[in-house]
Amino acid sequence: MGCFPCYGDSSMKEKDKKRINNRVRNDNQNNLGNTKNQTNNNRHVHTRDDLAQNSKEQKVSPLRDVKDEEAKDASQRRDVKDEDAKDASQSASSSDASPAENISGDGQPGTSFKARTFTYDELVEATGRFKEEDFLGEGGFGRVYKGFLKDTGEVVAIKQLDRNGCQGIREFVVEVLTLSMADHPNLVKLIGYCAEGDQRLLVYEYMPLGSLEDHLHDPRNNIKRLDWSTRMKIAAGAAQGLEYLHDKMKPPVIYRDLKCSNILLAEEYNPKLSDFGLAKVGPSGDKTHVSTRVMGTYGYCAPEYAMTGQLTFKSDIYSFGVVLLELITGRRAIDMTKSAAEQNLVAWAKPLFKDRKKFREMADPALQGRYPTRGLYQSLAIAAMCLQEQPNLRPLIADVVTALNYLASQKFNASSPSSQRAKQEQVTEASDE
Ligand SMILES: Nc1ncnc2c1ncn2[C@@H]1O[C@H](COP(=O)(O)OP(=O)(O)OP(=O)(O)O)[C@@H](O)[C@H]1O
Ligand SMILES: [Mg+2]
Repeated sequence: MGCFPCYGDSSMKEKDKKRINNRVRNDNQNNLGNTKNQTNNNRHVHTRDDLAQNSKEQKVSPLRDVKDEEAKDASQRRDVKDEDAKDASQSASSSDASPAENISGDGQPGTSFKARTFTYDELVEATGRFKEEDFLGEGGFGRVYKGFLKDTGEVVAIKQLDRNGCQGIREFVVEVLTLSMADHPNLVKLIGYCAEGDQRLLVYEYMPLGSLEDHLHDPRNNIKRLDWSTRMKIAAGAAQGLEYLHDKMKPPVIYRDLKCSNILLAEEYNPKLSDFGLAKVGPSGDKTHVSTRVMGTYGYCAPEYAMTGQLTFKSDIYSFGVVLLELITGRRAIDMTKSAAEQNLVAWAKPLFKDRKKFREMADPALQGRYPTRGLYQSLAIAAMCLQEQPNLRPLIADVVTALNYLASQKFNASSPSSQRAKQEQVTEASDE
C-alpha cells in the first residue's frame, strides 16, 4: 500500500519504511491551510471532559496523560506537517473531532464503556513474553500477537504500539473510545487496553481466520480460495458494520480506514471491521463535511477527500466500493506488479463498467467461472455506484446493505446446471474473441 509519507527522514530504517508505506498520510494539503474548524452543535455529543470523567472509573485511563502525550507525540513526529499538530490541538473544540472527544454509544456516558484495563505484566504473561510463534502480523500501529487470558480463558489478539511507528497515542485513544462504545457483531470487540508508563497495548477478540487481505491477496497454500457466496457474505457483513457506524452510533462516525486488511474474519467467515484509530465524528447540523488532514490508505481514499481534505460519509462509501471490487475481481486496490494501466484497480475498472460484455472479464479468475452471472452483474453495479466521482451520487450505506443482503441470500451452487451454463457461456465468449 502506498503511503503519503508522514516521515521524510531518508535515513529511515527499512522496517519503518515498510510500515509507513502501509499508511497514507497525504501531505498534498495545499487546501487544508484554508479549512476552518467548525463548531459541533450536536446535542448528543459529549466533550472530552465527560469522557475523562467517565474513564476515571477505570483503573488506568487511556485519557489520563493523553493531552500531554498527544502534544509530546506530535512534537516528536518531526516530519509531520504543522497541520497535524494544529489538528490535534484544535480538535477538542472543533467538529473535526475524533470519537475520542465526543462519542457515545448510546448517549449515556458510563453505561457503555466496557473495556477492561490490563497491566503490562498481565499482557507479557498472556503472550508468553511476546513470543515469535504467536506473532500475527504488523501494521502502522505496531506488532500484533496472539495471547491467552488465563482468568477468563479467552484467546485474544494483542496489538502493541510501536512508539516509532506512524500512528500514535491519539490513534490509541480514538480506538479505545470508539470501540468501547460500539457494539455490533460486525465490529471487532475490544476486550481491553493497557496504558502503563509509555506502553500502549490494545486487546481484541481473536479472529481465527485472519484478515480478508490474507484470503484474497495472500492465500497461503493451505487456505481455501474464497467462493462466490462467501465473498458476498463478507461484503454484506462489512456493509452492516459500516451501517452501524454511519447510522446507529450517536453521533455517527466516519470510519476512514476501510480496506481488506481491516476486515477480519471470525468463524464461518463472519466479517468484522477493525482499526478505528482514524475514525472521526461525522458532520453535524447543516454541515456537509468535516475538514481534516487526509489520512487513509492509498488506493482506498475517495478522490474528493484526497484532494480537499473534506471528509464525508460518502468517503467511506467509496472505500467500500474499492473493497467490493477487490472481492469481485480478486485484484488489489493498488498492484505495482501489474502494467501501468492495471496498477490502480478503480482506474482499470472504470472503462469496463461501461461495457456489459466486459463484465465477465472482471470476475476473479480464481473463481473459475463459479459465480452466478446475474449476481456478478449486480455486484459490479453496486461497486460502480459506490465509486462514482461525485460523492452525492454514491448510495447511502443502508441501501448498499439492502442490496448486498439480497445478493448474499441468493444461494449459489457452483455445480448447479445454471452455473455450468454460465461457465459454458464464458468459454463460448472467450473463443468468440
Ligand atoms: N483481532 C485480531 N485477530 C487476529 N488477527 C489480527 C487481529 N488484529 C490484527 N490481526 C492481524 O495482525 C496483522 C496486523 O494488523 P494491523 O491492523 O496492525 O495492520 P494492518 O491492518 O495490516 O495495517 P494498518 O495498520 O494499516 O491497519 C494483520 O495481519 C491482521 O490479520
Ligand atoms: Mg489493520
